[in-house]
Amino acid sequence: MNFELKEEQALLQTTVRAFAKEELLPRAAAIDEAGEFPQAQVDRMAELGLMGIAVPAEYGGAGMDTLSYALAMEEISAGCASCGVIMSVNNSLVCDPILKFGSDQQKKKWLPELASGKKLGCFALSETGTGSDAAAQKATATKDASGWVLSGSKNFITNGNDADLCLVFAMGDKTKGVKGVNAYLVPTDSRGFSVAKNEKKLGIKASSTSQINLDDVRVGPEALLAGECQGFKVAMATLDGGRIGIAAQALGIARQALSEARAYALERQAFGGPIANLQAIQFMLADMAMEVDAARLLIWRAAGLKDKGGRFSTEAAMAKLYASEMSNRVTNKAVQIFGGYGYCKDYPAERHLRDARITEIYEGTSEIQRLVIARSLLTEG
Ligand code: CAA
Repeated sequence: MNFELKEEQALLQTTVRAFAKEELLPRAAAIDEAGEFPQAQVDRMAELGLMGIAVPAEYGGAGMDTLSYALAMEEISAGCASCGVIMSVNNSLVCDPILKFGSDQQKKKWLPELASGKKLGCFALSETGTGSDAAAQKATATKDASGWVLSGSKNFITNGNDADLCLVFAMGDKTKGVKGVNAYLVPTDSRGFSVAKNEKKLGIKASSTSQINLDDVRVGPEALLAGECQGFKVAMATLDGGRIGIAAQALGIARQALSEARAYALERQAFGGPIANLQAIQFMLADMAMEVDAARLLIWRAAGLKDKGGRFSTEAAMAKLYASEMSNRVTNKAVQIFGGYGYCKDYPAERHLRDARITEIYEGTSEIQRLVIARSLLTEG
């Protein structure tokens, strides 16, 4: 197995690392405090080609592979976790399904604008009572002569307040259950589409998390993605890729927390020397470093498998599960190393802990990842 990056991957990593260090990290605390969409930073990410990393050049994207996407997500999230999730949703939850399931017309219409950052996407699967049980869609798609009428409400939609395009899932035929779900590409300025509420959150505060109302939103046949009754498969296959992105986000947050805890341990004096001399601190740092690297390996494996073209659901679930739980352990230990300062806003440790928490919840909770892994273990051997 070869762990060496290709030349273009290494170049991307170096470029994005420098950008995150110089332009995101110094502003991350202020971005978190303001809790407003970081338009200037997202514009810069778009200039760097980060809003459509795996979109082929013919559709205006960077034309790179999934490992490149994971590398960029790690770097961006180390600088600013809110920017990380904004980028992740646009790339893996919107560009990716259009690329995989879209018609040529849909690709030409949406991908250039999404990949260039002129437009932003969001993914509307969850509902107030429909989170982990994603097949139980209450939003409806009623067919008529000119297309469909979408009605219902969507909840916890990342980028919801700021997006131009929303990938909406709705029940087209209730009698078919999970096979009755459809997916639609809906411009957010469509009549009847509105943001009902923006959540106030523990972390990743600068990315919007919104409740969206669909009040008889009319869409034509051009909005249907992948054909009738294909929506659930679109959602599940899309989330497989999304989970690699969130795993890389969790990794970036943890790596940054480790780096800051290491620097602090070398500087902070107690018991006659830097606390890094104390075995209690050394053991914490050692565990943190090992876990960060272990998560990266799982993410790189899942990314490689995605590009091979086969099913990678289990490997993506493992990467997301391990990286998100790891990120919570590592950021928690970083707070511990900073002691009382770790609990205060003068230092970034508390922000990393708050930002890491959601990675165990969105794009499938840890419990859902365990379910996906266990099902494949028990049915495939
Ligand atoms: N790829 C392709 N097809 C898949 C698939 C995948 N990964 N997973 C399932 N399917 C297919 C199955 O093969 C099956 O089709 P067939 O009958 O033709 O074989 C069909 O979909 C139904 O599958 P299941 O029987 O496994 O469905 P289920 O109802 O038992 O649900 C689940 C499975 C794993 C629990 C699923 O509901 C799930 O992943 N839930 C979590 C949803 C989630 O991650 N939500 C987060 C929303 S996005 C977000 O966080 C907001 C944001 O903005 C960031």
